[in-house]
Amino acid sequence: MTESDREKTGNRLLRWLEASTDARILTIPRLFGLLYGPIDDRLPLGEAWRAAMRRKIPSSVGWKHAFGGATYFLCMILVVTGVMLSFYYRPSTVEAYPSLQYLETEVSFGWLVRHVHYWAASLVVLAALVHLFRVLYSGTYRAPRETNWLMGILLLITLLAFVTSGSLLPWDQWAYWTTTNGLEDLARYPVIGGLMARVFRVDEFVSGATLSRFYATHVILLPWVLLLLLSLHFQLTRKHGVSSGQGSDEEGGEPFFPNHMLRQLVVVLVTLAVVITLAAFLPRPFGPPADPFSLPDEVPALGIPAVILVGAARLPAGMGLYGLPLLLFALAVLPLVVRTKEESFTRRPVAMGLFALFLLLLLASLIAGLGPGVEPSVGVAQ
Ligand code: HEM
Repeated sequence: MTESDREKTGNRLLRWLEASTDARILTIPRLFGLLYGPIDDRLPLGEAWRAAMRRKIPSSVGWKHAFGGATYFLCMILVVTGVMLSFYYRPSTVEAYPSLQYLETEVSFGWLVRHVHYWAASLVVLAALVHLFRVLYSGTYRAPRETNWLMGILLLITLLAFVTSGSLLPWDQWAYWTTTNGLEDLARYPVIGGLMARVFRVDEFVSGATLSRFYATHVILLPWVLLLLLSLHFQLTRKHGVSSGQGSDEEGGEPFFPNHMLRQLVVVLVTLAVVITLAAFLPRPFGPPADPFSLPDEVPALGIPAVILVGAARLPAGMGLYGLPLLLFALAVLPLVVRTKEESFTRRPVAMGLFALFLLLLLASLIAGLGPGVEPSVGVAQ
């Protein structure tokens, strides 16, 4: 469609609107038009948007490429619901628990916001993992995208750090003792483990000082890290273009809009439906309020990523505790070490082996983490 065709269609639309509505209503869009024109002259947002929509992507790009977008959408849900939660949440040992109870029982749709946040945190990690496996399978982690692959690994670690720092905030017995155990596990890592556990626990045992540190990490530090990594990830994706994964990276194929945009829209709507359904039917239960002086009988981990992390620490011989970080490191350096140009996944044995090991370890950790929970490994606070 040429520019003049577009103008004609626009004029026809305006005339139709004028004929079929109260003409005064039209002063509103006109006013916006007047304001928007000078802004767009100086900061050509319209053109940038059109260029983004017009850009070509390889025709082999399909549904499996929509997981990156789904991950991003879930990140946005987390930011929006996180800000809403922070309007009510009070990060102190006395107020944290009742402030969340107030949100759930007294604030309209407060329960929905809380449980959407809880489920989106689980799904974002799952979506990022599926996205990682897609990139590994199609071989697009290799040059020239190895830096972007590394950004992706850092993003995954950041998402896990979000989950870990957020899981203490409800300040119930499960949150308290899962964190107590988790910090003990962290201290088992050589060299920096003990130091990191001390930095995050602050006190001899998990206390109000720990809660402040986890809260600040969750709502100030990590959002900035996420923003930085996401902008680098997207800059690099735009720079290299989404790869066809079939050896040729030439531009061409089909325009992003409407083809891939529609796929992305469907995935976003399905994701939203899944998150809301899970939040409504499987809300995060409240445990009894945190009590450093009483060990609960059970310490269940809540949320899929927390179950995986807790389960990893329970696997024998440090298989999960050391195996998962080592595998992530091996994946990060894979494109630097193995430089094969082989397209087929089945003829890339190292990538396939890492994929299988990673998946196995994640599943084993998930199963180990689903149990009722072991007694906290540290003594009761004196
Ligand atoms: C917050 C987490 C993440 C978000 C929001 C995100 C988002 C995206 C999006 C929207 C794309 C372009 C479309 C696509 O290929 O799916 C993309 C591409 C890419 N992502 Fe991610 N991603 C995340 C995490 C990861 C992880 C964990 C990895 C792997 C370690 C990764 C590696 C890559 C690579 C290498 C590309 C380019 C792939 C290609 O051109 O085929 N990303 N990402």
